Amino acid sequence: MSLTPVERALEVLRGGGLVAIPTETVYGLAADASNEQAVRRIFAAKGRPADHPLIVHIASAEHLPHWASSVPAAAAALADACWPGPLTVLVPKAAHVLSVVTGGRPTVGVRVPAHPLTLELLERFGGGLAAPSANRFGKVSPTTADHVRADLGDLVDYVLDGGPCPVGVESTIVDCTVAPAQILRPGGIADEQIAALLRNDVAPAAGPSRASGMLASHYAPTARVLLADSADEARQLAAAHPGAEVLDRTDDLVESARHLYDDLRDADRRGVSVVVAVMPPALGLGHAIRDRLTKAAASG
Ligand code: TXA
Ligand code: MG
Repeated sequence: MSLTPVERALEVLRGGGLVAIPTETVYGLAADASNEQAVRRIFAAKGRPADHPLIVHIASAEHLPHWASSVPAAAAALADACWPGPLTVLVPKAAHVLSVVTGGRPTVGVRVPAHPLTLELLERFGGGLAAPSANRFGKVSPTTADHVRADLGDLVDYVLDGGPCPVGVESTIVDCTVAPAQILRPGGIADEQIAALLRNDVAPAAGPSRASGMLASHYAPTARVLLADSADEARQLAAAHPGAEVLDRTDDLVESARHLYDDLRDADRRGVSVVVAVMPPALGLGHAIRDRLTKAAASG
């Protein structure tokens, strides 16, 4: 009998292989988090430096105490309210968590992704899946199975196709090992919601997101990205750069986030040299979109 896609993915993961998994945010490049050899293959496939830690994906919040030496109250409250969903909590790592996963740090990032196929996969797998975004290091994250295939080709053993990612930007990362907790990367859950859940006992992201291993320049398309604060400013900038295209989805932040990476990839596919992006307001998903556009622009 032929295997279902989830069964095929399970077989590859149990054999120490790499599977691209759909999540609500972006596609991840997953390996068994307790198999050191398999996790090493992730870094090789991505071309990612070994000191950049990976997020461990788990089936439900019940598994969090297995990966954490202790669960801070802030992590428990956020997990309870947001999982499955686009939130990653940093917690002190349990002794068994491989240092290849945490980049040698004493903390581990954990999340429960909200995607039916990947949740089924995680439940049947039983363990944790270490997974960064399934793109080559420094490039734009993939939000479709085709993006993954275009970026990684044969470097990934199997692509579990779960359709386009509905959120479109990565998870919000909250460091729960410090007091107050700190948002390290704005993402799919708005900063305002994190603040409300923690009764304002949280420090906001300071400037472009700065989780360890994060660089000022990241999420970079080949096209040069220029930032504008308004549609008017964007038109002026575009007029000054022959061949420039304006990217303005500020009227709908949900759609803007959902299409952000495909918009940038599409500009590259069409050979556009300059993208002038209009920055959304710093509100809700606007925090994450501003962060990613700022990084895309920083690559020059
Ligand atoms: O939505 C997401 O979070 C996606 C999907 C696949 O889950 N994953 C993702 O992973 O964006 P990645 O590796 O591309 O970005 C995770 C970021 C990295 O910048 C990494 O440095 C940071 O999280 N990170 C992970 N564990 C950490 C830790 N223990 N301490 C500090 N930073 C950590
Ligand atoms: Mg990434």
